[in-house]
Amino acid sequence: MNVADLQDRPAPAATPPAGPTGGGEAASPGVASPGVAGPPGPGVEPLLSVRGLTVSFRARSGPGRRTAVLRDVSLTVRPGEIVGVIGETGSGKTTLARAIAGLTPSDAGTIELAGGDIRQLRRRARRDFRRGGAIRFVFQDPLRALDPDLTIGRSVAEGLTVAGRGTREEQRAAVADALRRVGLDPAIADRLPGAISGGQRQRASIARAIVDNPRLLICDEPVSALDGSNRNLILRLLDALRRPAADSADSADSADSGGAGGRARLGMIIISHDLSSLAGIADRVVVLYRGRVVEDGPIAEVFGRPRHPYTALLIASAPSVRDEHSLSPAQLRRPADAPAARRPADACVFAHRCPFATEDCDHQPAPAPALPGWSVACHHTETWRSSLPTSAEVPTPSASTAGTVPAGTSAAGTSSKGVKNNVR
Ligand SMILES: Nc1ncnc2c1ncn2[C@@H]1O[C@H](COP(=O)(O)OP(=O)(O)O)[C@@H](O)[C@H]1O
Ligand code: SF4
Ligand SMILES: [Mg+2]
Repeated sequence: MNVADLQDRPAPAATPPAGPTGGGEAASPGVASPGVAGPPGPGVEPLLSVRGLTVSFRARSGPGRRTAVLRDVSLTVRPGEIVGVIGETGSGKTTLARAIAGLTPSDAGTIELAGGDIRQLRRRARRDFRRGGAIRFVFQDPLRALDPDLTIGRSVAEGLTVAGRGTREEQRAAVADALRRVGLDPAIADRLPGAISGGQRQRASIARAIVDNPRLLICDEPVSALDGSNRNLILRLLDALRRPAADSADSADSADSGGAGGRARLGMIIISHDLSSLAGIADRVVVLYRGRVVEDGPIAEVFGRPRHPYTALLIASAPSVRDEHSLSPAQLRRPADAPAARRPADACVFAHRCPFATEDCDHQPAPAPALPGWSVACHHTETWRSSLPTSAEVPTPSASTAGTVPAGTSAAGTSSKGVKNNVR
């Protein structure tokens, strides 16, 4: 399939209605049982393949100067897969999402969706591609997606209207179907965003994103503005959406390959600073640090035994995902009194904070496979753990910054216990 094919995708197949329970909510979508369609196997062709993506913005420091915000970023998403993206505030997560969707121009690299390079699309083809809705966004604040003066129904239908897809009646049916798929009573279509709850608004914004059957959903902090119970509901909903309906005619295999006869499986990128939210639903995790991918692998294994010192620090600083065997933050920080080494400009991006840095780290390491399907950008992937200080050698928490969290990363547990228990 190429990019042009994606612009003329079939209308979404109807799904059986979930019985409304009143108050605008239909039955909770729940997580599909394992075995209906688990994560895609390693042999499945990627839906999205990003290679060497570099994005820079004009620097404030002087005319003509630019600041690189993403450098040589690569990642893949397979059909039916959820890839989590984590990293501190300012690491480039939102820029990555926007660049993939073509909303932020990129300097170099390729962004292939189902085999076609979106970066090569010019003007009209790019506009048509955007209107075609193969990639859709879900934002942290649903009011960014829902116009306060438009009814929910009109907002959800907007993608179909802009693309001129279907008659009014067909659009109404597609909106009702999308609302049911996110667990809302279709009657909510007549209300304004201000007249429904925050959790319902986020569901409605997801309905808007899925109404025209996208191939890739990019969710930027989709649950950070929600309370604990709504957060869990939305996470479960996203998990359910990437799976084909249990009674669908699509087999997981044919749908994986974007195959004949039905709705192809939705791939998802979920950006979150809350590691426990991702731990419950993502298959893989990509760790960004200052615009570079430092680790990319299966989430349960990466969270269980991170191989990059920065990932290890993130996990150690997040009680909601670390366990009793995890390292402590103090073991992974440079001692406050350690002299700062002068490093060349192309040193490892983490070298100024890394307690394991050596002269080798004066050159940026390229991501290299640590295990099949797991890459790490560190010169000392296999050896840094042998240099860890023992707990007796590190300052006590009261005398150090141990327990504090890298900026923009939630350590606070999120009362998402049900989600945490889902960790594979
Ligand atoms: N339009 C822009 N112009 C200039 N700098 C930007 C722009 N958008 C983002 N940045 C900068 O890029 C860096 C990464 O930002 P962002 O992608 O929003 O990070 P994150 O989502 O991880 O917090 C930040 O330093 C931010 O200030
Ligand atoms: S390459 Fe060196 S500085 Fe960078 S993370 Fe690895 S050990 Fe630390
Ligand atoms: Mg952001």
